[in-house]
Amino acid sequence: MPAEVEIRIAPDPVRAADYALNVFRREVEAGVRSRGRAGVAISGGKSPLILFERLGGVEFRDWRCWESLHVFWVDERAVDPAHRDSNYRLARQSFLERVPVPESQVHRMRGEAPDLEVEALRYARLLEFWVKEGRPRLDLVMLGLGADGHTASLFPGSPVLLEEHAWVMVAPGPKPGEKRLTLTFPVLKGSRAALFLVTGEDKAEAVSRVLAGDETVEAVPARGVRLEDGRAHWVLDRAAASRLGRPLGVPPGD
Ligand code: 6PG
Repeated sequence: MPAEVEIRIAPDPVRAADYALNVFRREVEAGVRSRGRAGVAISGGKSPLILFERLGGVEFRDWRCWESLHVFWVDERAVDPAHRDSNYRLARQSFLERVPVPESQVHRMRGEAPDLEVEALRYARLLEFWVKEGRPRLDLVMLGLGADGHTASLFPGSPVLLEEHAWVMVAPGPKPGEKRLTLTFPVLKGSRAALFLVTGEDKAEAVSRVLAGDETVEAVPARGVRLEDGRAHWVLDRAAASRLGRPLGVPPGD
């Protein structure tokens, strides 16, 4: 992994969320300070829920960056926004409906679109406003890690892993026939920062394959998130870090 990878290992998921929230706050505030706005792409799944709930809580109630924040999604399932599997629904219910991000700055991927290819093109056009040196340059992409080594909706063996030009694509999901919308590696790699929040013993093997292994990106897609000019923050709890052969992370409690 490139030198700009920072790995922090927390004793437990709550402390991991503390670290992750510090990264989130730092990266967004840097963007707002430098450019007057910040673009963050968020993931779904279970891991970010602890973060989202804290973002919707008292510690961020008066955060001055909400009005300058643009929220994008890393990926979305091909479902209605009210569906229980919707990543948008998860974020809306856990924090977005409680913070003052202007509605025009909440950029939902329309998983319910009748033609997902058309939606992928529409979504890519939204990223035009964040282009620097020919590709989108978001301030932060918040990513999870699947036990199979996937991130976003970039699954092992997926044809979308090879995409070097399109910014948003329709991708196969984990279930036969399932379709998703996903940001591609060009967008993830062009970001100023990436934050992986990974907790739990069930992710330990995948974490080791990503951070300490040498498999291909096709086998372990999260290895493909090599930022071209940015910092990749890995925030793990001890359980998720338990298969890392050597103390890669910053000792807890610092
Ligand atoms: C999604 C996410 C996906 C997720 C991983 C980890 O839409 O589900 O974008 O990439 O981050 O599957 O999921 P958990 O956090 O639930 O383990």
